[in-house]
Amino acid sequence: MGDIFTPWRLGGLALQNRLVRSATYEGLAEPDGTPKIELANLLGDLAEGGVGLIITGYAYVRSDGLGLPNQTGVYIDAQVGPLARVSDAVHRCGGKVALQIVHAGGQSKPEWHAGHQLIGPSAIVHPAFGAPIAAMSKDQIADVIDCFGRAAARAKAAGFDGVQLHGAHGYLINQFLSPNTNLRDDEYGGDIDGRARFCLEAYQAARQAVGPDYPVFIKLSSHDAMEGGLVLEDALHVARRLDAMGVDAIEASGGVIAAGKNSPSRLVKGPEQEGYFLAEAKAIKAAVKCPVISVGGWRTRPRIEQALDAIDAVAICRPLVRQPDLPRRWAQGSEESPTCVSCGKCIGVAMRQGLACALDLAKED
Ligand SMILES: Cc1cc2nc3c(=O)[nH]c(=O)nc-3n(C[C@H](O)[C@H](O)[C@H](O)COP(=O)(O)O)c2cc1C
Repeated sequence: MGDIFTPWRLGGLALQNRLVRSATYEGLAEPDGTPKIELANLLGDLAEGGVGLIITGYAYVRSDGLGLPNQTGVYIDAQVGPLARVSDAVHRCGGKVALQIVHAGGQSKPEWHAGHQLIGPSAIVHPAFGAPIAAMSKDQIADVIDCFGRAAARAKAAGFDGVQLHGAHGYLINQFLSPNTNLRDDEYGGDIDGRARFCLEAYQAARQAVGPDYPVFIKLSSHDAMEGGLVLEDALHVARRLDAMGVDAIEASGGVIAAGKNSPSRLVKGPEQEGYFLAEAKAIKAAVKCPVISVGGWRTRPRIEQALDAIDAVAICRPLVRQPDLPRRWAQGSEESPTCVSCGKCIGVAMRQGLACALDLAKED
């Protein structure tokens, strides 16, 4: 049995336990992406709750890279100061925090974009959001890659302990990886080497911006869980290449938003449905040298401890929305299971008023 409370290292970053707060969009920024003080308070509470590493909700690297309203931005230097309040709050509470960086590409809605055209590898209509997407020019590709580097530098300047690229769930990096959304016939499309080029160049830009010793890691879709999409074999190839380039860890997720019930945030009705991407995480672990984090439906201590025999850490999202202090209670010996029912309604709450548990709010009414 793996022990949840054994320290480990993500690159140069020493972490006290094997529990990671998976990136969770909070909806706690101003319309221009500047994080509000409420975000610092929320993540400070999480740090007090004892999770080993907090990964922030996705922060967009260029002004047209937003996915959801009131999402955190990291696309201009003026955001560094407000972001530093967030990392400070976590550090004051004894925690560690990495900033997740993203460009949503075509996975958004035009009405949230104040006039920006949605862009992606190819001119298609988004399968879930229904909006038309314009194919990116080579100049646009080069600029977005540059923005990943600049955003990573801002994360470091704002005092974050690391930066995670969002390479999963149907956002821009995943759009380039997936044959469903990448129909290009230039060097950014075609076989997996072409489809991986954008991901690898975004990683390289981030790495160059922060230097060899600063933790840079990635959340990678192991497959799209959709017909015609990214498959595990291709994801393993990407994982191997990132590993060879020095990525500090891979968080193995899967599914795209358009995959419906096979999306990244699935229902978990019992222990047998926990860790629904564990097999994929194990396959990635066998292919790389860097640590591998498994995300997707982790709930109970026994299941997590069993998984830690095979992988390095587990990441948890929805249960920590409801009970940010669950890790501390487990550390004190509790065996309790989370009260989260995995309904996923916290995302709607985050969009309306900022991240909170929908069930808790319903009780208050
Ligand atoms: C409210 C909400 C917000 C999320 N925001 C993000 C995000 O910003 N970045 C990301 O990579 N995944 C995001 N996810 C996906 C989670 O990080 C996680 O991969 C997924 O929910 C499975 O973990 P869980 O079963 O512990 O919830 C979000 C999920 C939810 C429910």
